[in-house]
Amino acid sequence: MQQATATSTLPAIQIADCSNLDENATTLFLASGSNPYENTEEFLFDCEMRADEMPRFIRRALLEFQVRSNQEGVLLLHGLPIDPELDRIHTPPDALRSTEKTTYVSERCLAMIGSRLGHLVSYIQEKNGDLFQNLVPIKGSEQLQSSTSSQTRLQFHRETVFHPYPPEYLLLYCLRPDHDRVAETTYASVSHALPLLADAERDLLFQPLYRTGIDYSFGNVQTIKGNGPVLPVLYGNRTDPFLNYDEDLMMAITPEADAALVALKEAIAAVYRRVKLTTGDILCIDNRRTVHGRSSFVPHYDGFDRWLQRSFVVRDLGRSASDRHPGERIIRTCF
Ligand SMILES: [Fe+2]
Repeated sequence: MQQATATSTLPAIQIADCSNLDENATTLFLASGSNPYENTEEFLFDCEMRADEMPRFIRRALLEFQVRSNQEGVLLLHGLPIDPELDRIHTPPDALRSTEKTTYVSERCLAMIGSRLGHLVSYIQEKNGDLFQNLVPIKGSEQLQSSTSSQTRLQFHRETVFHPYPPEYLLLYCLRPDHDRVAETTYASVSHALPLLADAERDLLFQPLYRTGIDYSFGNVQTIKGNGPVLPVLYGNRTDPFLNYDEDLMMAITPEADAALVALKEAIAAVYRRVKLTTGDILCIDNRRTVHGRSSFVPHYDGFDRWLQRSFVVRDLGRSASDRHPGERIIRTCF
């Protein structure tokens, strides 16, 4: 698969460096509390209360990112606390919950950071609806367009573009990078891609001329294109738009619209950036402004492969209320 070339002239990623937190701040993340998988709501409430006490620079960075985002549409929190004994805990082999990890620092980091952006939700079709999802390479999935792949580029996409209740943010916490430290999370913001498009292309992309597809992880195991809803690619403010985009599964319904989609694909390939996540990093991605992907890497399947945890955040829980059980965070929309 062709690898696009990223420019290196764009501004650097916005980083909140959390690697020198004082003892009080560190304790907020490390002190034990409820089990996030058994007493979920209490865990989330406790994390939100703890987040109120985080250092001001973290709260300020998250507030600004929530209210006005930034040109990259991503915010990196670097050097967050990590689970004790993490070195000895194996990467779960099947992307389900780790049976070895009995502390919940990574989950607490995700819930605390996420609580300043909105509310954590999950989708019943993904990882049994867990709020904290393990992203690990799985044997046999190396070439899929799915988070379980490894030896192929994960193409640019907005998360769940086909879904009526997509997350406004996704958070990636890195527990362990890949062995060779080559795996890069790639991202491209609409702010950077838009200037490369002609007015006529923008006009087309603002119209509902694009049929997207259902994700592999939501049951589209044949990776059929165009089996989802028809949407505009760009929406919102004309000069500062949001975008719906999936490089793999989206298709135009007219030749003119297709030419504009190709132009956007080329623009994304020209402006995308990349970041190598290390242990204790959380990458916050504005899912309305920025598409993301991943470079390829070689898994070893030795218990110490790349391991991320992912959480989804919505601004308004009420929007998905009809498709959730009362008091639950799992969105159960059927496809
Ligand atoms: Fe994704």
